[in-house]
Amino acid sequence: MNEKKKVGEIAVNYVDDGMVVGLGTGSTVYFSICKIGELVKQGLSITGIPTSKQTENLAKELGIPLVSFAEIDQIDVAIDGADEVNSELVLIKGGGGALLREKIIAKAAETFIVVADSHKMVEKLGLVPLPVEVVPFGFEMTRKYIEELGCSPKLRQNNGTPFLTENGNYIFDCSFPEITNPGSLETKLNMIPGVVDNGLFNEMADIVITLNSNKEIEINKREVEKS
Ligand code: A5P
Repeated sequence: MNEKKKVGEIAVNYVDDGMVVGLGTGSTVYFSICKIGELVKQGLSITGIPTSKQTENLAKELGIPLVSFAEIDQIDVAIDGADEVNSELVLIKGGGGALLREKIIAKAAETFIVVADSHKMVEKLGLVPLPVEVVPFGFEMTRKYIEELGCSPKLRQNNGTPFLTENGNYIFDCSFPEITNPGSLETKLNMIPGVVDNGLFNEMADIVITLNSNKEIEINKREVEKS
């Protein structure tokens, strides 16, 4: 069974006529976007706002009408994947490098839905390195301050040169022994000059769609109100 397809398609049940829909990036939300494309062909009337060029291209191919932030007041629903999700629905995102645009769109969404196959559900965050987006200017110094928070930052590479995000920034993939207080770590990282944002999404996911041990759909809702 393709877990990504199953959770990705179920999320589209939350999309209705007239909505502005945030379209995430990655191999799980790919199935949500394809399903939305199918429904649009059958007459569903929505507009999408993409989190990356890759998603923008996919949406265009599928005939999903797109809007920009200049044209909207809010996003009704955003759907996106994650690299890790804990039991409090805190996420690590950014494996694909789109974390900043993903966070901007998730924050603006009335309901932020995460689609995650069962392997993404973890007891403790930090098995995958935490992506931290930094501006290229002074990145060597920024790295030292990030390291002082207890991790080993590795500059993400692409064919022997630093990987560039769509915002023209670098990414440090930061291996922490474990992340015990994600809220505090998210804030501390973002207070370092040169850090643009990081892949911790704390108190953002409203709904996480995954599969339980019997491979049945499990829908988890966050209890704490959105700030
Ligand atoms: C992109 O930058 C990421 O945040 C993705 O949303 C995340 O890596 C999940 O991707 P997959 O669904 O491909 O695992």
